[in-house]
Amino acid sequence: MGKQAVYRHMEPIRLMAPCLPCHGKAKGEPDMLGYSKDGLEAGDLIGLMSVTVAVDD
Ligand code: HEC
Repeated sequence: MGKQAVYRHMEPIRLMAPCLPCHGKAKGEPDMLGYSKDGLEAGDLIGLMSVTVAVDD
């Protein structure tokens, strides 16, 4: 990042069964919080975790 050497680690965030009441089907229907459901299934990719740590050279 610029002149700073970094170690960067990324991991996918996949949905599990407990996520589906809010992120599952049917797409567009309101979840328990009033947001729209996403229509996704268990195992689907929903995000990415990214950790960046500065390292010396
Ligand atoms: C109680 C409801 C609920 C449950 C259960 C739930 N989420 Fe969410 N999640 C939300 C809401 C609400 C948002 C924000 C949606 C928005 O901003 O439009 C969100 C957003 C996210 C985001 C960010 C998406 C983005 O586009 O920024 C990720 C990643 C995520 N959830 C992953 C998960 C995972 C993985 C699980 C299960 C381990 C889970 N969620 C369970 C309600 C829930």
